[in-house]
Amino acid sequence: MAKIGIFYGSSTGNTEVVAEKLRALLGKDAETNNIDITGKEDIEKYDYLIFGTSTWGIGDMQDDWEDFVDVLEEVDFGKKKVALFGLGDQVNYPDSYVDGMGAIYDSIYARVNIIGAWPLDGYTFNESASVKNGNFVGLAIDKENQADMTDGRLKEWAEMLKKEFSF
Ligand SMILES: Cc1cc2nc3c(=O)[nH]c(=O)nc-3n(C[C@H](O)[C@H](O)[C@H](O)COP(=O)(O)O)c2cc1C
Repeated sequence: MAKIGIFYGSSTGNTEVVAEKLRALLGKDAETNNIDITGKEDIEKYDYLIFGTSTWGIGDMQDDWEDFVDVLEEVDFGKKKVALFGLGDQVNYPDSYVDGMGAIYDSIYARVNIIGAWPLDGYTFNESASVKNGNFVGLAIDKENQADMTDGRLKEWAEMLKKEFSF
């Protein structure tokens, strides 16, 4: 069985595309799952988890994540390692850029080993609930304004995760 479960919520398909690219970069050890059809047991199957969400409204998690996030409270994370990624639009939403990723982080950080923080270099925005201690809590992707940077960012982040996930 695959060791890495990538769980994404996506309203117009952008986060799904990124999740599939990430799966390809991580290879046979990774699988993608839509959070829309996920239960607690699906999450508990994996040693390593990657949660991806876009941001909607002004700073909200993607809808399916909004519906699912409370289930995370029941998950026994044990020694599992978790990484986060978020999609957002830093030009049109500079005061809530990728806030959805920060909302997932806030709901689990106290009891989960979260890895994969990402530097702020190359982004321009005012505020983000995803920024903690001078970094994003996970990979931030901006399909609307920096589409040409997505593949490079993903590649670099996937290499970071491979080291953290120790395989
Ligand atoms: C109505 C609307 C509200 C949005 N709100 C935010 C926001 O607050 N922060 C942000 O970073 N991006 C925001 N976005 C941008 C989306 O997160 C972005 O388009 C993302 O790629 C959508 O991914 P998905 O198709 O996987 O849901 C918003 C987009 C729309 C259309």
